[in-house]
Amino acid sequence: MGQSLANTVLALALGFIANLLVGKSPFPTVIVDDEVTVDFIVVGSGSAGSPVAARLSEVEEWQVLVLEAGGQPSPESAVPGISSFAALEGSAMNYNYRTTPQKYAQFSYTNNTTPYPSGKVIGGSSVINYMMYNRGNKFDFDRWAALGNPGWDYQTVLKYFKKLEDYGGQLTAENRPYHGTGGPLRVENKRWGSAVMTAFLAAGLELGHPTLDINAGSQMGFNTPDVTVKNGKRHTAADAFLRPNLQRPNLRLQSGSHVTKILFDDNLKATGVEYRQDNKTKRAYARKEVVVCAGAIDSPKLLLLSGIGPQQHLQGLGIKTLVDLPGVGENLQDHPTVFGISWSVPKGEASSVKRVLGPSSKLLYKHLRKGPLSAPLGVEGNAWMRLEEGGDPTVPDMQFLIISQALGFNFDLLLSSAISLKNKEYRGYLKALRGIEGFNIGPMLTVPKSRGSVTLRSSDPFDPPLIDPNFLSHPDDVELFLKGIKFALAIGNTTAMRDGIGAMFVAEPLPGCQTHPWGSDDYWRCFTRHMASTTYHPAGTCKMAPLTDPLGVVTSTLKVRGVNGLRVIDASIMPYITSANTNAPAIMIGERGADFIKEDHGIQINI
Ligand SMILES: Cc1cc2nc3c(=O)[nH]c(=O)nc-3n(C[C@H](O)[C@H](O)[C@H](O)COP(=O)(O)OP(=O)(O)OC[C@H]3O[C@@H](n4cnc5c(N)ncnc54)[C@H](O)[C@@H]3O)c2cc1C
Ligand SMILES: *[C@@H]1O[C@H](CO)[C@@H](O)[C@H](O)[C@H]1NC(C)=O
Ligand SMILES: *[C@@H]1O[C@H](CO)[C@@H](O)[C@H](O)[C@H]1NC(C)=O
Ligand SMILES: *[C@@H]1O[C@H](CO)[C@@H](O)[C@H](O)[C@H]1NC(C)=O
Repeated sequence: MGQSLANTVLALALGFIANLLVGKSPFPTVIVDDEVTVDFIVVGSGSAGSPVAARLSEVEEWQVLVLEAGGQPSPESAVPGISSFAALEGSAMNYNYRTTPQKYAQFSYTNNTTPYPSGKVIGGSSVINYMMYNRGNKFDFDRWAALGNPGWDYQTVLKYFKKLEDYGGQLTAENRPYHGTGGPLRVENKRWGSAVMTAFLAAGLELGHPTLDINAGSQMGFNTPDVTVKNGKRHTAADAFLRPNLQRPNLRLQSGSHVTKILFDDNLKATGVEYRQDNKTKRAYARKEVVVCAGAIDSPKLLLLSGIGPQQHLQGLGIKTLVDLPGVGENLQDHPTVFGISWSVPKGEASSVKRVLGPSSKLLYKHLRKGPLSAPLGVEGNAWMRLEEGGDPTVPDMQFLIISQALGFNFDLLLSSAISLKNKEYRGYLKALRGIEGFNIGPMLTVPKSRGSVTLRSSDPFDPPLIDPNFLSHPDDVELFLKGIKFALAIGNTTAMRDGIGAMFVAEPLPGCQTHPWGSDDYWRCFTRHMASTTYHPAGTCKMAPLTDPLGVVTSTLKVRGVNGLRVIDASIMPYITSANTNAPAIMIGERGADFIKEDHGIQINI
């Protein structure tokens, strides 16, 4: 059975179960006239687009139209314990992109490429992500401001993080000043964890690192993630910001509408967009602004298709250049991880799909919204460390994600096929791991030095773009991973892990690295180049920067350079990626961006 067919069958089964557990709750959508005029068009209803649309529509006299390429979220996406399958290749809620073949990394994966999931659905990637709610480091935002982007310093963005949040987690004297209540997005403590989670936090303490709420004062230590979950169900950006406001007469959401081009008048003012819906080409016009919130892959793609980007690239594809902006699609950053640092534990200590879907788990979830189905599958905790000597000790250079699943467990190699390991070469390796219950500690670079790009494959708007993360092209990234792997091994070798849950390192030599003595520095460097891959956090491809930076794409108020009436508001505007998962910052960027628009149009903001 082909991988995506298997995934389709799996999705049907999980959809059936999810329907029984949570039912369906579709978003109210509209079909507008083939030529419609509004004040603001928002392209994309994802993590950033949803708050942008919600906040703009607070101004009663502004007509806001959201055009979303995807459709309704599936029921299984709402159930945290099974929703990670929604991101698998073949899902209808996913653009199903892949990376280009990587020169310096991903050697273990099919054609040196891996799937690069991105949400194509109402709510965008917040519908298929792992729900971890991590804001990043104070330093990230202060650095954005210091680069010449006023209004993005930590003190300012903290106000927006508080405004967007309805915090339901544990509050203490220490973390209270950093959290908000009554905001649109529900954020909670994770409701369930396996024995691996408890042991992980104990391992941190054993190594001298505190357990903490990383969204408060300090980010340095170990934590179990807060999650975007409400009443035990995934709370997407669209659930938080669009659903409660779609009854407003001035806010409309049209799904299945794939924007193919931004339209401009002779003065280079964005006047609207062209889009495909139901096989028809339609147009929508904006009296005030077009706001592109299509994410860090599709926002640069749309600008390029519209003639905004590096002239040479556009010329080569026969696209007329409106503005020669060399930065569009450049500066792609992500948080690469090294997969396969795994331990086995005795059965029952880690996560298992079989147990998650067992009758007692279903009952617990259906009636109390508790238990393994209420938490993202396998996601147990993170450690945040600074491993490079020197530098600011309050800023991590490494994140360690622990998931209570080893490579070969669950549905016979599901994880390994999800990440697209080379089948033939890895058969023997995986055989040794098959059926093992365990956990994986994935070191992640919080701010890698390598930079990649997003470019067009062709001028056809429905062709997937070329996504080249260019992982490990900077040699420092490999050396930092080497330190990271050693720290991961130290976590697994604590008393808490070894004696507490019987963790045993899986020391099977990695195919392709057998020529190096097992466990030597060169072995781990080789391991890194083979197993490093994405954690699905594209950012930076429409960089915010002052005009002195030739690779900037948007101004500090997120206006696209060289044109009028056009902004980009999403994860693509980050000049440097944040030092943690990118969903919370993307939502904050949406909130922040909406206020810039309001201010520019003379609306009083209160923050
Ligand atoms: C599998 C996976 C797991 C992740 N796990 C986590 C996690 O646990 N924690 C975390 O913080 N982050 C996580 N992330 C990352 C996080 O979800 C994203 O960084 C964030 O959602 C990006 O927000 P955005 O608004 O920039 O883009 P998106 O949320 O992707 O929104 C873009 C929207 O625009 C729409 N769109 C695109 N092109 C067009 C077009 N041409 N016309 C109309 N509409 C269009 C898309 O369909 C989509 O709805 C994960 C991501 C993935 C894919
Ligand atoms: C790998 O490359 C081959 C040859 O170009 C191609 O046929 C195949 O579809 C590719 N597989 C993936 C998963 O990209
Ligand atoms: C759109 O058109 C193509 C052929 O041009 C056809 O295969 C497809 O079924 C059509 N889709 C819809 C939704 O009508
Ligand atoms: C694990 O820790 C013990 C001490 O607790 C040490 O003797 C041993 O060498 C360590 N093993 C590894 C692989 O680091």
